Amino acid sequence: MSDTPRQRIFSGVQPTGNIHLGNYLGAFRNWVKLQDSFDTIYCIVDLHAMTADYVPSELESARIETAKVLLALGVDPSCSLLYTQSQVMDHAELAWILGTMTPMGVLNRMTQFKDKTGAGITANLGLYAYPVLMAADILLYRANLVPVGEDQRQHIEMTRDLAERFNNRFGETFPVPEGYIPETSARVMSLTDPTSKMSKSDPNVKSRILMLDDPDVIRKRIRSAVTDSDPEVRHDVEEKPGISNLLEIMSACTGRSVDDLVEEHADGGYGAFKDAVADAVVEELAPIKPRYQAISNGDVRAILREGGERARELVAPYTREVKKAVGLKGY
Ligand code: TYM
Repeated sequence: MSDTPRQRIFSGVQPTGNIHLGNYLGAFRNWVKLQDSFDTIYCIVDLHAMTADYVPSELESARIETAKVLLALGVDPSCSLLYTQSQVMDHAELAWILGTMTPMGVLNRMTQFKDKTGAGITANLGLYAYPVLMAADILLYRANLVPVGEDQRQHIEMTRDLAERFNNRFGETFPVPEGYIPETSARVMSLTDPTSKMSKSDPNVKSRILMLDDPDVIRKRIRSAVTDSDPEVRHDVEEKPGISNLLEIMSACTGRSVDDLVEEHADGGYGAFKDAVADAVVEELAPIKPRYQAISNGDVRAILREGGERARELVAPYTREVKKAVGLKGY
């Protein structure tokens, strides 16, 4: 048996409820898949959630709900570490240290920040520094791989730069992590506006499919998905963003290639194609709801409590080492 330690995976999700098909196909399905062969750590990032408007009394229910959905999707606490960020304040401590090494020019280029402020969200320092906290999450655990959707690619790039910058200045400390982004469905698009991504915060509930939606709701959402007036089923993101999105969703749910699906459905009409997409999504999500219903809130709290304790123990020596390297008291 090899005694090479397993590569470490870290990823996070904001506790905002409304976990949708995009989160699942872009990231969480990989979270579950990777837990057999990697040392996996998954975090509900409530410190990040504070950068947007939020109601304090709702944060706990959002944490529990998010964890419960993750468990129902197959995140297994007997092999993955599952916890909430605010249980381990080392995240914030490392974010401060990394923040002192992050040029403002780099943060000014972050497209998620620009998108949010462009949409009229009032920026606070936390939102501006969001990618630094995210880098701290990943580097705190010395993760090698980060399973995320396409929208996080730029943040991962920044994390890699910060790891290199830190290592050059203070000595080899952090592995330079890599994103683990799926080939299809890395950016699942809205069902009502297929030129923007499916999002938890879209006020239009018809824009997304949630993990616990009933089959008839899923079918309705897909049947009413915005497409175009040319009846040919083909993959062309520019000309046919709605159909391309449905093809990618179906490909991700069935494991069949987009080309194969196009060949089968090219001339069959949109109605029949949408029904086939709906069948594939319904089948993929079918096991989730019964598993969700079998988990109690008490079980979830116990899992998170224990996860937080294990996470604190795991990072304590890492934090000491980092503080010592940068000239802070590490004892
Ligand atoms: P969050 O909570 O917005 O989303 C969780 C995961 O879902 C992916 N995702 C999508 N994938 C495909 N299509 C979509 N439409 C779609 N929408 C969301 C996201 O890419 C993400 O992987 N900043 C992160 C949370 C975070 C994090 C981290 C992630 C904080 N620290 C450290 C990795 C490592 C976020 O807001 O994800």
